[in-house]
Amino acid sequence: MSIIVTEKELPKSLTPEQAVEAAYAQELADIASKLIRGLPVLVECDKELAPYLFLNVRNRLREAKLQCIYLDGRQRDPQQGAVPMGLIGTMIAQLRDAVRGAVERRVVVLPHLDLLTTSQGGLTGEAREVIPLLYENPELVWLGFKDPSFPLPKVIENLFPCWTGILGTSRNRLRQLVTQSESRKFGRDFSPWQLYKYVSGVNAVRLRRLLSTLEGEDYPADPKRAYSQIRQATLSGHMEIPSIDLEKDIGGYSKVKSKLRAEILDTLQKRDKATDPEEIARLEELIPRGMIFWGQPGTGKTYFAKAIAASIGAAITIVSGPELKSKWVGESEENLRQIFHKARQSAPSIIVFDEIDSFATARGTYTGSGVEHSMVNQLLTEMDGFHKDELVFIVGTTNFVESLDPALLRPGRFEFHLHIPYPDDDDRRAIFEIYNKKMKLQFTPDAMEYAINRTGNRYITSTGTAFSGDHLNALCRAVARLRMRENITGETTPKLIEKAITEFDEKIEVHEKDLPMVATHEAGHFLVSIFCPNHAPPEKVTIQSDMPWAPFFTQFKHEKKRIGMSRNEMLDQVTVLYGGIEAERLLIGDVSTGASGMGDPKSDLARASLFAEYMVEVCGMSNLAAPLRSFRDHKGDRQVLSGSMAEAIDRQVNTLIVEAQAKAAAILTKHKADLIKLRDELIEKKTIEGARVHEFIEELRARYPKDVGAPGPEVKLGAGAGTTTDVNATPDKKPTKKKDAE
Ligand SMILES: Nc1ncnc2c1ncn2[C@@H]1O[C@H](COP(=O)(O)OP(=O)(O)OP(=O)(O)O)[C@@H](O)[C@H]1O
Ligand SMILES: [Mg+2]
Repeated sequence: MSIIVTEKELPKSLTPEQAVEAAYAQELADIASKLIRGLPVLVECDKELAPYLFLNVRNRLREAKLQCIYLDGRQRDPQQGAVPMGLIGTMIAQLRDAVRGAVERRVVVLPHLDLLTTSQGGLTGEAREVIPLLYENPELVWLGFKDPSFPLPKVIENLFPCWTGILGTSRNRLRQLVTQSESRKFGRDFSPWQLYKYVSGVNAVRLRRLLSTLEGEDYPADPKRAYSQIRQATLSGHMEIPSIDLEKDIGGYSKVKSKLRAEILDTLQKRDKATDPEEIARLEELIPRGMIFWGQPGTGKTYFAKAIAASIGAAITIVSGPELKSKWVGESEENLRQIFHKARQSAPSIIVFDEIDSFATARGTYTGSGVEHSMVNQLLTEMDGFHKDELVFIVGTTNFVESLDPALLRPGRFEFHLHIPYPDDDDRRAIFEIYNKKMKLQFTPDAMEYAINRTGNRYITSTGTAFSGDHLNALCRAVARLRMRENITGETTPKLIEKAITEFDEKIEVHEKDLPMVATHEAGHFLVSIFCPNHAPPEKVTIQSDMPWAPFFTQFKHEKKRIGMSRNEMLDQVTVLYGGIEAERLLIGDVSTGASGMGDPKSDLARASLFAEYMVEVCGMSNLAAPLRSFRDHKGDRQVLSGSMAEAIDRQVNTLIVEAQAKAAAILTKHKADLIKLRDELIEKKTIEGARVHEFIEELRARYPKDVGAPGPEVKLGAGAGTTTDVNATPDKKPTKKKDAE
């Protein structure tokens, strides 16, 4: 079979009734056969389709000598009823007439089931009369039509043991639905297969209307115009086709882009070009329909989804997971069904479920109501309902792919996983170049380098995260505003960029008087880390940084990707976190609020206890009796525990903390002279980094070869700046992940 048809093979003309017969012959036969056997049938289809489906069913029933009563509520003879009774009143009257003499089998057709339903989804008074009439007359069989966007109450649905959904048209029938003259609008080589891409979700009646209103010349050299008319007409509701270009609008991320191209876009393109039905079917098998995009906020997950949509001409619907969930509770599962229905009608299309983890979290971590469970099931059911030739993609976005229900990630479901990390140096360069050009910012080459470094993983934003694409976009807009305010029409300099970053940030001023305390504290972290063999060595320490919101911190080298951390490594993290406050105690004989940050959740002490708690409650790194389960849920909140269990946990956590604190104190006491030396140098120079750090460590190694860990391989520098003082890792409610620009 070829996918190209010649004009002669197409019908000359088509009535809607003929089109419906051609498109749904099988479904119609099936409905008729059920009715003939006495089974009531509910058909879910677009409203405009219902009357034609009825006509075609009726023809079949006539052959079987079955009579139909069509209850549309219209009065056939206005002379007869003196008082107009309205649609429903008439319907009931019609039904009463029908059952009065019902001795032979009849099919009652209910084309407007929604009229029997109140807006709250209950039964109208009339429905309460109609339904018993149906049940009380065993000679009646009924055929109902329901609009997909209209939920029916269970009592009505239960009237129908058989249910058929008719959506769109099928690909191999399409050649019977286009007339010769219409096919000319698509050029000489009309391929129904190509047209199908845009009309898979359009029912035969609407399709006929669309085709008959096509404008344009016959046999155009380029059929684009006809296709784009069709495409525009099939976009429903809030749907739109985005115009984000994968290359021109999205900077960097070459790996992510090539994965998308290789695994999805190229295959789709091949499928569009293929002419052998078998090959097309084979390619369609290969294209994943469900995708998970995961990464931190602002890294471009939604942006990438839009770019995919743009490149395949797909409409996009963005659904907020939390919103859907809250609606779910009140308005039942109908919501999700409608989202899918609309997307299928407007295929090719993409549905993006933002924050899909809000309802699709791993089983066992569901909170209470079981809502999530039924939502996941419904989602999977809807996805399973797709045909392979329909182009409907589902993208779920989340910050943590690990938190998702594994049932969702199985092959055939959300099988394509795309990690969108924070942008690396090259990505940031590309992103800045895009916005520099778009916003006409005129970065000097120096300014470009400055911007790239200044948003790199040695720096954090004022909210404590690495810089995402969204942050870079915001920075460029801040630069543009600054240029406008200051009437700058020339180049953008590094100084201007720095100003745009920090101009309105709250500056933490370090008082002269606090310098010895701060320097002691940071020197403590620095020194302790050198003597903790399972901790990354220090890389930089400063009490006067260029980040106004984080003026002092200690930064450590660390390896880029780690699978997890060992108990010793975690313990050393805690030890180093205690290095600051223990140094204060040792050298000053007093302790400051520096380590506690007066309750700051990112402070040394808060993070140290979070580490220790995770070691005990999640990672099984204590003496608590086995079997040990995680005492925290996936969000990091403690599960409800018995009093004695909570006590046992607290004791274990405390033991770890005391152990780490004592270790930090012991290291500092032993190396007090070096601590003083380091502190004084820090007060004098404000920042110690680069070769000087190396020198310092090597000098200590020469004196204490056993105590100082072997120099690790040269590794990429990691993020290290917390808000006050810092070490490079924090459980961040996720102890196995280092907080870095992953
Ligand atoms: N690689 C990039 N190139 C250019 N702009 C980018 C890039 N990444 C992100 N952006 C900018 O950041 C904005 C936010 O991105 P997007 O909304 O896709 O993030 P997200 O990952 O979906 O975030 P969230 O998790 O908060 O939903 C985009 O609209 C775009 O302006
Ligand atoms: Mg998003």
